[in-house]
Amino acid sequence: PAKVAVLISGRGSNMQALVEHADDAYEIVVVASDRPSAPGLAWAIQHGLPTFALSPKGIGKPVFEAALDGALREAGAEWIALAGYMRLLSDEFVAKWHGRIVNIHPSLLPKYKGLDTHARAIAAGDTVGGCSVHVVTEELDAGEVLGQREVAIESDDTAETLAARVLEAEHQLYPAVLKEFVRR
Ligand code: GAR
Repeated sequence: PAKVAVLISGRGSNMQALVEHADDAYEIVVVASDRPSAPGLAWAIQHGLPTFALSPKGIGKPVFEAALDGALREAGAEWIALAGYMRLLSDEFVAKWHGRIVNIHPSLLPKYKGLDTHARAIAAGDTVGGCSVHVVTEELDAGEVLGQREVAIESDDTAETLAARVLEAEHQLYPAVLKEFVRR
């Protein structure tokens, strides 16, 4: 199986979906977090996964990213899957892993890059939202889209109710797209 590192910052539900769907296509070799208190990290530890946690606070981004890079390589990672990782990776880091980092984003890219995607889709009167898995490049949320799932937006949806339905679609989309991607 392809060796995948998952990077998280919080809840980690997409990381859980990736772990639960791992098979001969890919295996999760390390879960790394930039927030040592991330709930997803506790889940990963409880499930016996190798983990790495380091906050960039006080050490600066270059030192933080060098340590992260070292931990991922130490774990044997060949690919990186961002799963609710809420910190921008530097151009230097992305270049080192060129074409080997993917991300899941809660919108139908190229619509709604960045934050507050569901509130923006509702405010725009969209009737369809969804999620995208894309290759990470130096430009935010702009790399090649590898797969998408659409979710209908209902007239009584709030950002929260829509986010919950899109999240279920994310959990199905991400493992499936990752399996295809690592076969490239
Ligand atoms: C997910 O909805 C993911 O698409 C989004 O954060 C959530 C993380 O949830 N990611 C981004 O907004 C990236 N900019 P999770 O921690 O439960 O996977």
